[in-house]
Amino acid sequence: MNPSAAAIRIQKEYLKKTRKSHALYKRSVSCFPGGISHNIRYFAPYPFYTKLAKGKHLRDVDGNVYTDYWMGHWALLIGHSHPIVTSAVRRQTSHGTLFGTVNKLSLDLAYAIKEGMPRAELIRYSSTGSEATMYAVRLARAKTGRRVVAKIVGGWHGYNTNLLQSVNYPFELDEGLGLIQDEEQFVESIPFNDLERSLKILDTIRDDLACIIVEPVLGGAGCITPESDYLHGLQEFAKRNDALFILDEIVTGFRLSFRGAADEYKLDPDLFTLGKIVGGGLPIGVLCGDKDIMSLCNPVGREKSEVACYIGGGTFSANPLTMTAGLATLKHVKQNKSAIYPKINKIGTRIRKGLKKAFSDGGVDVDVTGIGSLFMTHFLNKDIRKISSASDVGLSDRDLLRKYHFALIAKHNMFFLPEKMGAISSMHSLKDADHLIDATHQIVQSRLLSLSK
Ligand SMILES: Cc1ncc(COP(=O)(O)O)c(C=O)c1O
Repeated sequence: MNPSAAAIRIQKEYLKKTRKSHALYKRSVSCFPGGISHNIRYFAPYPFYTKLAKGKHLRDVDGNVYTDYWMGHWALLIGHSHPIVTSAVRRQTSHGTLFGTVNKLSLDLAYAIKEGMPRAELIRYSSTGSEATMYAVRLARAKTGRRVVAKIVGGWHGYNTNLLQSVNYPFELDEGLGLIQDEEQFVESIPFNDLERSLKILDTIRDDLACIIVEPVLGGAGCITPESDYLHGLQEFAKRNDALFILDEIVTGFRLSFRGAADEYKLDPDLFTLGKIVGGGLPIGVLCGDKDIMSLCNPVGREKSEVACYIGGGTFSANPLTMTAGLATLKHVKQNKSAIYPKINKIGTRIRKGLKKAFSDGGVDVDVTGIGSLFMTHFLNKDIRKISSASDVGLSDRDLLRKYHFALIAKHNMFFLPEKMGAISSMHSLKDADHLIDATHQIVQSRLLSLSK
């Protein structure tokens, strides 16, 4: 079968098995712009609608069951609706869902975070990661009295306006309408894994540099690990020039290990952000860090003339349900960490190796990036032979990646949000790895992926 006939057949199979989702999507476009409420959740021809999620599985409204590798934007380290979490949340629901007052649960979660990450001397909760990174930037500006924020080309820190630059390939264009150019002059982008060029750029802005913010492993931009000394080089520059070094651990925190990426890479950030896993499946963002810096946002007991850096809002921040779910998750992870991390990392390693082999056996040129329980396939071409930065990802064959992920969904009931990295939870097993590798092998054999740009 030729590649385009194979693609048409897969599309037909998807249409046939997701009729109810199709009908819901048709209704959704009259409610939501594009039929969706989170931009990346759309994929062609329409996304399936999930009705139930348990363990490593998603069940859609048509009754199809998928093995999930998206795992709630990589947030669900211990799987969907883990009984430890759901029973704690159920109990808490009968005691109140939103107090709008201080509560002990927030303290318990803070101590659970500090146990894994002692650098979290003081903590502020928010309801999303986007808020946490927005707060981090504001605090850095407050601390340094400077304006410019350096971020990584392709780095994703959520939809806050401060950090909405160089997110989408080809990176040098505006990130859409509604952004003001005057604001953009205060953000500078530097290339991941190219320390020499990064330092050159940083040198030009060092007198006005408030902070460098970086994901230790580039997540949304392609699951790319740092080359040796890159992060240390940035940290050293920041510290030498009185700017803050901020680690965005919203994906890596409690995923790479119980102590996160700062520990893994022996870094000492001034501030760091958490989210995803620490909310236990409920909305959260967390800003953590050095107590002197964090104290700038302390609004209590100040003289009238003294102004704080205001970063503690949010009707739903520290709400008892999120605190409960996060606490139940971290307690479970702590108790089982010597089983969970080796297990998910072993599955990740098997998948990365197995996918590479399945593709290379079929003559398809890929790089499979990642670390621990995170992984992503990139289809190479004559220009891009290895993936080290977001630009390499942008220049790789995204069309083949979309086709591959869609074939996994439509033919093999394995869910990757098309074009996004995969994540393993403690609910996955080595058998899942083998099934994924086997499905990949079949897709390669079907010649669907023979068509290249
Ligand atoms: C590294 C990183 N920072 C920040 C965010 C934003 O978090 P949220 O989607 O909760 O606003 C994300 C979301 O994917 C992320 O991956």
